[in-house]
Amino acid sequence: MKAVSKNKYWRQRGKAVLLVALALSSVVAGCGSHGRKGQGMSSGQSESNSPSGGTITPEERKEARQIFSSQCATCHGPQGRGDGPGAARLNPKPTNFTDPNWQKSVTDDQIEKVIVYGGAAVGKSPIMPANTDLQADPAVVAALRQMIRGLGGQPPAK
Ligand code: HEC
Repeated sequence: MKAVSKNKYWRQRGKAVLLVALALSSVVAGCGSHGRKGQGMSSGQSESNSPSGGTITPEERKEARQIFSSQCATCHGPQGRGDGPGAARLNPKPTNFTDPNWQKSVTDDQIEKVIVYGGAAVGKSPIMPANTDLQADPAVVAALRQMIRGLGGQPPAK
């Protein structure tokens, strides 16, 4: 007899846990895509819920390339040499990602932090803007970081 009621208890409990999980996941999904400047259109639903450095899908790589050419190249230049059209009047200059000394001076974590939270978050120039909308897309941030590392002549991580 006892065993039966215990069983029932766990079934009930299981249901409650499931409900909580469902409620949570819909909250997360609900606030995932506040695109800035109306660019939420193209962001498909990301499958990846892994922390940055996890699997990056081809779609996320593509999104990273698009973000780079539409948002980063203005300052950092299309090839990441720090010579975009917006760079001339900036001081300090946007980082030249092809500079091996700069590449050596930063960790992967720092690169990702700068991209999401801006230069000021790591003690660099606040001219380097934050992209807090990317917080919801760690795999895209990781893909951007890999692109930037690739510009330094390092083979992209597998
Ligand atoms: C308004 C111009 C501007 C835009 C747009 C911009 N950056 Fe920057 N970025 C800068 C400047 C200026 C620095 C140099 C900061 C410093 O050295 O103090 C910088 C530095 C960096 C650094 C190096 C930080 C470090 O710790 O050395 C990375 C990485 C970076 N930017 C990535 C990006 C990416 C990725 C984008 C696009 C999502 C982007 N930036 C868009 C101006 C810009």
